[in-house]
Amino acid sequence: MNELIKLHDLHKSFFVRDVAIKAVDSITLTIKKGEILALTGPSGAGKSTLLHLIGLMDRPTSGEIFFNGENTAGMPENKRCSLRNQHIGFIFQFHHLLPEFTALENVILPGIIGGGKMERLLPVANKILREVGMSQRADHLPSQLSGGEQQRVAVARALMNEPEILLADEPTGNLDHETGETITGMLTEIVRTRKMTLVLVTHNKELERFSDRTARLLDGKIVE
Ligand SMILES: Nc1ncnc2c1ncn2[C@@H]1O[C@H](COP(=O)(O)OP(=O)(O)OP(=O)(O)O)[C@@H](O)[C@H]1O
Ligand SMILES: [Mg+2]
Repeated sequence: MNELIKLHDLHKSFFVRDVAIKAVDSITLTIKKGEILALTGPSGAGKSTLLHLIGLMDRPTSGEIFFNGENTAGMPENKRCSLRNQHIGFIFQFHHLLPEFTALENVILPGIIGGGKMERLLPVANKILREVGMSQRADHLPSQLSGGEQQRVAVARALMNEPEILLADEPTGNLDHETGETITGMLTEIVRTRKMTLVLVTHNKELERFSDRTARLLDGKIVE
């Protein structure tokens, strides 16, 4: 099967003082295994909302999300949680690293949450840190790292449980242009080498060239 995620007529509304805001409005989309999909569109278009729905962090108001052919709507919360932990990796605009933990500890954490044993996790985490060029800084706290280095660690953490899909919400939005290019280049190369799938939210037109396909959102709809 070539389809990893299928969204069918997805809607998400937020109700603010009885006024409905349609953040995602009838989106039907198939994400293929191994593809890099860019999500673009102006601020407020619904990109983050859509990414949260794809990542099973939020539930749609209506419509269906299929993950590997399985409808996620009826799944109990613990099943959704383990799907998220085992199969989906997240990278955010701000790295969300835990400040009191070292780079290595931050990377290893999803493995521990997933129930892995330290002796098995440690070599995996070290290998991934090497891949993102951060092995020299494994023992450093996030506050001792530059923004770009912190984002490398966040990429490593997202890879820890070897997810099938990575979801990145403007992962370089907080970095200067050149660092943003470098990190996006590194991220997409890792994704291609590992034959993973990536959904990348980006405001930056130039970063779209790293993707196979672009979906442009406007007012909660895919317009292109
Ligand atoms: N928790 C919420 N409660 C109410 N409204 C929300 C909530 N989250 C998002 N929205 C609204 O939904 C719409 C889509 O928001 P979303 O964050 O998905 O946009 P975005 O495309 O990611 O924008 P940006 O580029 O600024 O990050 C906006 O109108 C936003 O105000
Ligand atoms: Mg957003």
